[in-house]
Formats: sequence, structure tokens, C-alpha cells
Amino acid sequence: MVSGKAKIAGVLGWPVEHSLSPKLHNYWLSRYTIDGAYLPFKVRPEDLADTVRALPKMGLRGFNLTLPHKEEVLPLLDSVDDIAASIGAVNTVIIDEQGKLHGTNTDAYGFMENLRQSISNLAPYLEHVLVLGAGGASRGVVKSLLDAQVPHITVINRTFAKAEALCAHFEHPALEAKPWNDVRAMAIAQATATMVVNTTSVGLKGEPAPVIDLSCCGKNVLVTDIVYTPLETSLLALAKTLGMKTVDGLGMLLYQAVPGFEAWFGVRPEVDAALRKHVLHG
Ligand code: ATR
Repeated sequence: MVSGKAKIAGVLGWPVEHSLSPKLHNYWLSRYTIDGAYLPFKVRPEDLADTVRALPKMGLRGFNLTLPHKEEVLPLLDSVDDIAASIGAVNTVIIDEQGKLHGTNTDAYGFMENLRQSISNLAPYLEHVLVLGAGGASRGVVKSLLDAQVPHITVINRTFAKAEALCAHFEHPALEAKPWNDVRAMAIAQATATMVVNTTSVGLKGEPAPVIDLSCCGKNVLVTDIVYTPLETSLLALAKTLGMKTVDGLGMLLYQAVPGFEAWFGVRPEVDAALRKHVLHG
């Protein structure tokens, strides 16, 4: 239902057509019979500042940000919480009654909550985590692992300098960077890893070859991919063939949306199988 009193939120991106957030939030709005709407806004990078300033004047409750706006939005906000400041990116903005904009980042929450809900005894997998990639998505994942007090996190990236920069940014004794092409370092990291996380974009184009060969990993490793289109990336398919436990990336998208929906629309929504089905096929 959308009346004249409807609560409005949305997502700002360029492009924005690929975003699954409208489908997800509008499903919850209908399920909880809330008078509201969640809209996609196609905003060019050069128009971001004007748009962000206009949204409180239009009465929006808040909005999500997707590429390429997650970092650029920071200086446009009235406040940014510790988690978003630490990741250096905002994916969720809440607009208060005075029209002030408050930024947060729910990607780290979404990543860990997806694992917690998917794996009944997660603790043994949080001993040594091998993180593939050192881009924006990796920062959110690393932040969630640090907050979960994972004692050993190895970041491997094709461009080693970016892995080093990410570790320097968080400056934490649990974190180490290793070069992608250092075969020995990779073999050691894989042999002791209890979890492997792909945060690179490899898999998004349905590449047939997985981002790494998992054959040096122990059988008890948990493999997860933040890519969710396709749902079963070649990395997850390989892990399954090798008898490893896997968690796909769709749950991270669903759980990261929960805090924003609750703040804008006043109901803490549930993530369940019906939602997954709707987002994938609805
Ligand atoms: P995001 O914000 O989604 O993390 P990004 O910041 O562009 O996107 O980062 C993409 C990540 O995927 C990077 O770690 C990138 O490695 P580089 O830093 O070396 O560019 C990684 N990546 C992309 N294509 C890759 C490939 N073919 N092989 C390995 N890593 C790749």
C-alpha cells in the first residue's frame, strides 16, 4: 500500500538497475503491510551531492548506497558511526526528523550474520580466515572478522600493495598480507585456513575457473563467496566437489538490509527461505 503518508526510502547507484534491494525491501513492506515504498534512484557521480542534499527535503526516511557512491557520500553526511568510519564506506543512511543524515555500514553485520545463521557451530571456522581480495568489499569482511575476534586473518590480493594497504589501515596484530603469486605462502595459508572468503569480483561473470584452487586446503575448511550472481560460483562448486562446507553470498545481501529496513519502517524484518526465493525468482 502506498498512501499520501507513505514512508519512502531507496537506493542510490550508478548504474542501479542491477540492485536487488528494491525487490527485497518492497517484499518486506508488503509482507508487514507497511504504508511505504523503496525506490531505485539512478544518480550520476557528479550529481550525488545535490541528490543527497535534496532527499531530506523530499521527506525520505533514508537510503542505501551502492557502487560507486559508498565512499564518496561520507563528507556529505552529518554523522558517520564508528563502523562506517572504520570501513571507510557507508551503505545505509538514516534521515532523522530534523533532516540530518546519519551514515552507517551494515555489510560487516550482514556478512557475519549470514555465517551465524547458516552454520550452527561457527567458532571452529573462525580460527584462521583466508580473505581473497583487498577492495571495498574486503574491508567490510575484514572488519567483521576483527570484530568477531578472529585471531588470524590472511589477506591475499592480486595487487599485493592493496593487501598491504588494507592491513595497514586496520593495523591489527591478527592481520597479515601475502602476495597472490607466492606459491609457498599460499600453500601454507591454505593448509592452516579454517575458512576461505572470496571478496574479489571473480565469479560475477560466471567465470568457469575458481578464483583459487582449493586443493591445498584441509577438508574441514568453510568456503564462502560474497558474489551471489551466480549463486553457485565456480569456487563454491569446487568446494562442494572437494566435500567442503559452503555458504553462498545471497544471505549477506539479505542480512545487511535488516538494520536499514528497521530504522526506516519501524519493523525488524525476518530473513527466511521465502524471502530468498522471492529475491532469486520472484
Ligand atoms: P569491491 O568494492 O567490490 O571489492 P574493488 O574495490 O574493485 O571492488 O575490488 C575488486 C577486487 O577483486 C580486488 O581485490 C581485485 O584485485 P586487484 O586489487 O588486484 O585489482 C580483485 N580482482 C578483480 N579481478 C580479479 C582477477 N581476475 N583475479 C584476481 N583478483 C581480481
